[in-house]
Parts: sequence; structure tokens; C-alpha cells
Amino acid sequence: MLCSMNSGVTLFSFTSLIILISCFPGHVTGAVVTLHSIELYKTHEWLSKPTVYFQCKGENKTILPDVKKTKVVYTFKGEESWQPLTNFTNKKCKRCGLYEKDFLRHDTFDEWEFCPSDFGGDTGTYTLLKEKEFNATFLCPECLDLMSDHKASPPPPLSDSEKKSGKKGLHVLVVIAICAAVAAVVIIGFVGGYKYYQKRKRQQEQARFLKLFEEHDDMEDELGLEEMI
Ligand SMILES: *[C@@H]1O[C@H](CO)[C@@H](O)[C@H](O)[C@H]1NC(C)=O
Ligand SMILES: *[C@@H]1O[C@H](CO)[C@@H](O)[C@H](O)[C@H]1NC(C)=O
Ligand SMILES: *[C@@H]1O[C@H](CO)[C@@H](O)[C@H](O)[C@H]1NC(C)=O
Repeated sequence: MLCSMNSGVTLFSFTSLIILISCFPGHVTGAVVTLHSIELYKTHEWLSKPTVYFQCKGENKTILPDVKKTKVVYTFKGEESWQPLTNFTNKKCKRCGLYEKDFLRHDTFDEWEFCPSDFGGDTGTYTLLKEKEFNATFLCPECLDLMSDHKASPPPPLSDSEKKSGKKGLHVLVVIAICAAVAAVVIIGFVGGYKYYQKRKRQQEQARFLKLFEEHDDMEDELGLEEMI
């Protein structure tokens, strides 16, 4: 009985823990980086059209299939088959670069530290201009969240344009409130169940005690009878 009670305690703690954890899904879902526009000022390839690709250290190459000519601004919607370029899961920078390949060799347009904190403005844009090489604009709206999540500073006052994110905050609050309520109900239920169990146990012990007493009485009665006989 005690053993089953203990496993009951464990089960309840475990369930509460699961509920609490599932209520607070980490905001780390990955901030996706897309290429918004690029203009090449020169290529390193003389014989054929260049194959331009983007790559972060330790990740796969992303070939930019349409980028072939210099002095042309290529703009993208961010939904192309080869997008996104990469993603950030935390504040940490990545070492990334823009390269060009042909049969014999790889050339580097540029290699740089790509950081979530580089992205700014309302939409999370980052323009990288490398003189005589290229001008590229990257988008990462979620990088702004990523950075603000890690800042301890209080949120700025709500302006009209920020009502939307305010609603999002409200939504999170509601979810947290519901989770707290569920957790409270589970804990109250558990405490109630435990109290009930203790009460029953006490009653059972009392009953056993009384029974023992009665048996004792009976025995005494019998003894008394025997003495009388
Ligand atoms: C982030 O990128 C990694 C590797 O590039 C990938 O495995 C993961 O699924 C991506 N996550 C998101 C949320 O896009
Ligand atoms: C890289 O590409 C290979 C083959 O295309 C694929 O199996 C692998 O999952 C990719 N890795 C990442 C991190 O995207
Ligand atoms: C680089 O590209 C961005 C986005 O297209 C543009 O706003 C900016 O003026 C360009 N800079 C130069 C020097 O061409």
C-alpha cells in the first residue's frame, strides 16, 4: 500500500512537471534567415557563368540558382525552393560566406560573422556591402524576437503599430494563466487525495485498534468465565 502510494506521488509529480513544461515551450524555435536581394559587382569567373552559393560553417551549401550576372539586382520573396539560407537558434554568431565555384576552384566573395544582432529595423533586415564584390540584403524578422527574448530590459511602451505584438503577449499571458490553473487543480487534487488517503488509513488503524481491544476484551471475558468455572 505504501509502495503504491509512493509511485502515486511520483506519477503525480511527473504529470505536473509535464504539464508545466508543455506550458512553457521554449521560444527557441529557430530564427530563419532568407536572402532578400543581391547584386554582384563582379564575378571571379571568366569562361562560364558563375555558380554562386552561400554557406555557413558546418552547414550545407545553398546555391543561388538565378544569380548569374553582375550589375543586376536580384530580389527574392523568401519562399524560393532554396530558401531559407540558414537559421539561428540562439544569439550566437555563425561564420558564413558567399562563394563562387567552377570546375577548378572556389572563390570567395566574402566571409563574415553572421549574427542575429546584425538584423535591425522593423522587419529585421541586414545589408552587407562588400566593396567591389556584392551588396546583399538578408531578412530575419525572428532575429528581433531572439534578441529581445534574451534581453532583460523592460518592453518599450506600446505604440499603435505594436498592438499586434501586444496581442501576442496577451495570448501568452492567457496560456500561462490556463496552465497555472491546470497545475493548481492537479496539485489541489493530489493534496486532497493524499489527505483522504491519510484519513482512511487512520480510520483503518483505529478500526484495527478497536478490534484488537475487543478481542482482548473477549479474551478477558473468556478468562473470567474460566476462572468462574
Ligand atoms: C535550423 O537549421 C537546421 C540546420 O540547418 C535544421 O536542422 C533545423 O530544422 C532548422 N530549424 C528550423 C526551425 O528551421
Ligand atoms: C545537407 O544535405 C544532405 C544531403 O542533401 C542532407 O542529407 C542533410 O540533412 C543536410 N544537412 C542539413 C543540416 O541541412
Ligand atoms: C544595397 O542594397 C540595398 C537593398 O536593395 C539598397 O537599399 C542599397 O541602396 C544598396 N546599396 C548600394 C551601395 O548599392
